[in-house]
Amino acid sequence: MAALRAFVPPLAIAVAIVLAGVAGHFAGPLWGWGVAGLAAAGALASFWLATHPVSRAAAVPDQHPARSRGGDAWPWLALLSGIPDPALMLDSRGVVLGANPAAASFFPNGIGRHISLANRSPELLSAVEQALARGSAQSFQVRSVVPVERTLVGQATPLFGQQKLEPTEPALLLVIRDHTAEHQIAEMRADFVANASHELRTPLASLKGFVETLQGAAKDDPVARDKFLAIMALQATRMSRLIDDLLSLSRIEMREHVPPTDRVALAPVIADVVAALRPLAEKANIVVEVVQGATLLGEGVIVLGDRDELAQVAQNLIQNAIKYGRLGGRIEVAISRRADRAQLSVKDDGIGIAPEHLPRLTERFYRVVPKDSRERGGTGLGLAIVKHIVNRHHGVLDITSKPGEGSVFTVRLPLA
Ligand SMILES: Nc1ncnc2c1ncn2[C@@H]1O[C@H](COP(=O)(O)OP(=O)(O)OP(=O)(O)O)[C@@H](O)[C@H]1O
Ligand SMILES: [Mg+2]
Repeated sequence: MAALRAFVPPLAIAVAIVLAGVAGHFAGPLWGWGVAGLAAAGALASFWLATHPVSRAAAVPDQHPARSRGGDAWPWLALLSGIPDPALMLDSRGVVLGANPAAASFFPNGIGRHISLANRSPELLSAVEQALARGSAQSFQVRSVVPVERTLVGQATPLFGQQKLEPTEPALLLVIRDHTAEHQIAEMRADFVANASHELRTPLASLKGFVETLQGAAKDDPVARDKFLAIMALQATRMSRLIDDLLSLSRIEMREHVPPTDRVALAPVIADVVAALRPLAEKANIVVEVVQGATLLGEGVIVLGDRDELAQVAQNLIQNAIKYGRLGGRIEVAISRRADRAQLSVKDDGIGIAPEHLPRLTERFYRVVPKDSRERGGTGLGLAIVKHIVNRHHGVLDITSKPGEGSVFTVRLPLA
């Protein structure tokens, strides 16, 4: 009998782990942690079995399970603290007997009270109720939007199936995981794919339309043919720009955690970019001025960076200033030193941006007026690229703007 008892706990752990593995395999990664809760419950149960002189079936009814051989308390609280996610132990009435430190922010002052007083989410309460009634683990998901958007997933695992327990005995392990970040990433990925295909589909549909027209109605009309071919060339350029920008964004993202190590003087980089964009500015009758402060000569501003990426930041910002600037207006590009930071700012006197758009400007494909941006040949990726490059350089991007007056985009980078 003693040999059998010694054999039971490891067996229970093994069964719990095998169950976790099998369930994880079928349920997919989302629930992998959930079955880890099941495994933890198995481990708790087996630990309890190991510290009890008799099996549950043979337990004396008035013996309190929190006591074991020698009168030691069953250390389930210590075991809870070994679970990295918020975890709580409930009795069979749903009263919280204990919680690990990770659960403190979810259930402040919850100990000794019914779980419904600590959390009112119907999904969580129903999972607890069902788990206790059926004696089997129940998963749940809670989505809330107020005060902040949050996604919690969790599992309520009864420790002893449907066995009758004393009301105050530990009966159920509740493990919760904050899934908000994962949920947002999954949403962003889905949005990105939808946006990218939409952006590609639009010029593609236009190209297909013109091909059909050229094969049919405009077949023998040289004037129409030339006009349509010019539009088709424009659409094809737009598609290839979009693909270039997407590739460039993914390349930068891949390297984002590797900070650049070259010493780069900002002034010559900016001068090259301004020279390259001058024809574009002249077309809009805009003057681009590189401003140098009283003591500032530009050459002194050296950062640890990647020259091409810094040129891309300047190009995207100055190009935007030209695109959304005032016809006949003025753009000021300034390089300066501020304490231990290098500062590049691009200021225009154009249409400006309403405050509600500012926080979203660096999202991929976000544009204030999508139609307007598309007509100007924009892909909506320019500022997303800027943000990722600035992140890689451990810098910050700051945007201030007043509708109707203009905008200032400022990049601050650590000096070399
Ligand atoms: N200087 C600016 N003034 C006013 N609005 C701006 C300015 N810069 C950016 N914006 C707004 O922010 C949006 C996003 O800019 P972003 O550079 O990411 O995309 P885009 O210019 O539309 O396209 P792309 O840069 O890929 O060609 C723009 O569509 C525009 O609405
Ligand atoms: Mg742009």
